[in-house]
Amino acid sequence: MASRILVTGSAGQIGAELVPYLRQRFGNDRVVAAIHKAAGAALLRAGPVEVVDVSSAEALAKLVKEYAVDTIYHLAALLSATGENNPQLAWQVNMDGLRNVLEVARTNGVPKVFWPSSIGVFGPDAPKEMAPQNAALNPTTMYGVTKVAGELLCNYYFLKYGLDVRCLRYPGLISSEAPPGGGTTDYAVEIFYEALRTGSYSCFLREDTVLPMMYMPDALRATVMLMEAPRTEVRLHSGYNLSAISFSAGEIAGEIRSRIPSFKVTYKPDSRQRIADSWPQSIDDSVARRDWGWRHEYDLSKMTSDMLSKLDKRMNG
Ligand SMILES: NC(=O)c1ccc[n+]([C@@H]2O[C@H](COP(=O)([O-])OP(=O)(O)OC[C@H]3O[C@@H](n4cnc5c(N)ncnc54)[C@H](O)[C@@H]3O)[C@@H](O)[C@H]2O)c1
Repeated sequence: MASRILVTGSAGQIGAELVPYLRQRFGNDRVVAAIHKAAGAALLRAGPVEVVDVSSAEALAKLVKEYAVDTIYHLAALLSATGENNPQLAWQVNMDGLRNVLEVARTNGVPKVFWPSSIGVFGPDAPKEMAPQNAALNPTTMYGVTKVAGELLCNYYFLKYGLDVRCLRYPGLISSEAPPGGGTTDYAVEIFYEALRTGSYSCFLREDTVLPMMYMPDALRATVMLMEAPRTEVRLHSGYNLSAISFSAGEIAGEIRSRIPSFKVTYKPDSRQRIADSWPQSIDDSVARRDWGWRHEYDLSKMTSDMLSKLDKRMNG
C-alpha cells in the first residue's frame, strides 16, 4: 500500500485547512484526517476520515499500521485560553498526546513527525520586541508549559532515536475556514466575522495589545516548507521561531474600518489579557529564514482584504 500522511486534530482551525492543502499536493487518498469526535468530518470527506483520541496510543498505532503512515502532523491539543480553564486536561491532552505520537512513530518506523509549538513558550521575562530563538522559556500558562516540555521531548526523540521531528512556534493564526479553538489571539479572527455580520465587535483584549500574528496561507506554506527542507538544513528539532506580522487590536480594527467605515469596536479585557501580556509582541525568526529560507507573504493590509473578501463571499453568497 502507498504510504500515507496522518493529521491529528484535523477538524481544528489549522487542520481544516492543512488537510485540504496536503491533499491537493499529495492526493486525497494519501492524507488521513483524524478527528476527535464526529463533528467537523463533513469538510474532510474528500479523503479518509478517522475518529481517534490521541490519549490512546493503541488507537494511534492501529491507524498508523492500517494506513502504512510515513508522516504524522500532530495538531490535536488544547489551546492557551482553554488550557488555562482546565490545566489538568491541557497537560493530559498535550503531553500524553505528543508522547503517544512520538512513541507510536518510533515503534512503528514512521520516520517523520510535525508538531506545532507556539509563541506561548515565552514568558514575561523574554524580550517583548523581537524575542530571539534562544530566549529564556519561562511561560506562565499551562499551555506554555506543555509547549516547552513538548519541544524538549521532540528534541529528545531526535537525539536518542533519530526520529525526524520538525517543529514551528506558530504565532496567532488568522484564517477564514474553521473558527479558532480557544486561544488568546482568537479575537483577530472573530473581529472579521463580526465586522461583516453585525458591524460591531467587543474585543476581549485592550486596544493597545500587540501580538505576533500570521495569515493561514503563510502558516501552511511554512509548515510544508519546513517538512520538505533537506534534513541537513533543519538544524533545530525543538521549535523554530516563526513570524510574519505584529499589530495591536486597535490597528486591526482600524484596518477593517478603512474598508467598512461604520465598523465599531469596544474593548473589554478579560482573563485572556493576562496571557497576552505574558507573551512577546514580536518574534525574531531569522534562524528559520537562514536555515530553510522562510519568507512571509501577507502583511496586515493584504491579509485584511483577503479575509474580508473570502468571508463576504461565504456569508453573502
Ligand atoms: N491556531 C493558532 O493560532 C495556533 C498558534 C500556535 C500554535 N498552535 C498549535 O497548533 C495546533 C493546532 O491548533 P488549532 O488552532 O488547529 O487548534 P484547535 O483547537 O482549532 O484544534 C485542535 C483539535 O484537536 C482536537 N482534540 C482535542 N483533544 C483531542 C484528543 N484528546 N484527541 C484527539 N483530538 C483532540 C480538537 O477536537 C480540535 O479539533 C495546536 O498544537 C496548537 O497549540 C495554534
